[in-house]
Amino acid sequence: MQQKWSSGWVFLLAAIGSAVGLANIWRFPYMVGANGGGAFVLVYILSMLCIAIPMLISEVLMGRRGGADPVYSMEFLARESGVSPHWRAFGWLSLLATLTILCFYSVIAGWSFAYIPKVLGGLSSNSVEDIRLEYEMLIASPVEMAFWHGIFMFLTISIVSRGIQNGIETAVKVLMPGLFIILLVLVAFSLYSGGFEDALNYIFNPDFSKLNVEVVLMAIGSAFFSASVGIGAMMTYGAYLKPDVSVPGTAAAVAFVDMGVALLAGLAIFPIIFANGMDPDGGPGLVFVTLPIAFANTDYSVLLGTLFFALLAAASLTSAFSLLEPTVLWLNKNHGVKRIWGAWGVGLIVWLVGLGPVFSFNILKDFHPMATISRFEESTIFDLMDFTVTSIFLPLGAFMICIFIGWRMKTANISQELNLEGSPLFTVWYYSVKFLVPLALLAVFLGSF
Ligand code: PHE
Repeated sequence: MQQKWSSGWVFLLAAIGSAVGLANIWRFPYMVGANGGGAFVLVYILSMLCIAIPMLISEVLMGRRGGADPVYSMEFLARESGVSPHWRAFGWLSLLATLTILCFYSVIAGWSFAYIPKVLGGLSSNSVEDIRLEYEMLIASPVEMAFWHGIFMFLTISIVSRGIQNGIETAVKVLMPGLFIILLVLVAFSLYSGGFEDALNYIFNPDFSKLNVEVVLMAIGSAFFSASVGIGAMMTYGAYLKPDVSVPGTAAAVAFVDMGVALLAGLAIFPIIFANGMDPDGGPGLVFVTLPIAFANTDYSVLLGTLFFALLAAASLTSAFSLLEPTVLWLNKNHGVKRIWGAWGVGLIVWLVGLGPVFSFNILKDFHPMATISRFEESTIFDLMDFTVTSIFLPLGAFMICIFIGWRMKTANISQELNLEGSPLFTVWYYSVKFLVPLALLAVFLGSF
């Protein structure tokens, strides 16, 4: 008998846990910084509303109806609507994409775990140069990075191997409230840091001259990654959802909270950065270098630093569960592999493959496997994995979902699952998935080349 979430609320917590992660707290602020502030934020918000919400609804509804891992669910849905069972290819893509993300996601998530002892040990009382050096030393050390990547995978595996109710549910019930409390404490602190107004201006005052095709595509891509859509992670969580929970309501809630957390993370980080006269355009090192330097100028540097990196660690952990779960469920359902073996086996492989991205920062940093193609001349293994997922797997997966829902799945089956018959909301959603979202996806896809 398939396990289920014990309530709609718990599903909401787990799905928000999947959505809220490194993309919101680590990536969003530096993307805003690198892409000119408000204009990027505006496109991001629009993409969340017009693209991520319809996609989330689609994935969760397909997952609940399919009731299993993405491969099995897709095959079932295709049969039920009388179309080719080859649609199961989406399921394969889903397993491949979630695991590929996990391989490099875990590496960056490992940094946040590494920083907790560093800040507790007084990182922020060091000089600016030393704080910078600390980050450079971390990424230069394959052993330290592999260790923290291992700790992160160990925790993820330990939770996922315990199953839905005993593992993921129990963990998100503790981690998610903790995450929100920490975020609010950090925003409250930022309110008094002296840079709040500048930050508000920076985030919400769009300078349209900064808007170009690249910024738009970046923002759409970020919204996708941030809402965890397109690769069957939400579909797998949807498979554990009881029939009486409203899919559209839950999906919208996930997107709004995800967006809210990204904006709040910006409001927690930028004021401190501005108040200390620093540059928001710090790239991937923004939260690991600029932020500890900014914290150093406050009276509570240890507390703030610890809270911040605990926030990042908790957020990435709850996302990682949803990246490991699809394959563990697939192994269990299709091959009878016990959950505990599946989780440990797959987790170990992810750790091993993840050494590629680990070494991209040190011993293999000059190794550019696709250097013959000018676009990838400088790309490391890490960059290539990131590119493959965000620019190919995610838009491709999302495109397949749109075509399936909009053009292949029987509308009767869809409306039965959504319970929105005759409502204008249904029509809006349906036509977005049929036309608007696939077109936006095509743009992202072509644009990234
Ligand atoms: N949404 C997660 C984040 O913001 C990452 C993720 C992507 C998780 C896709 C699952 C699926 O960090």
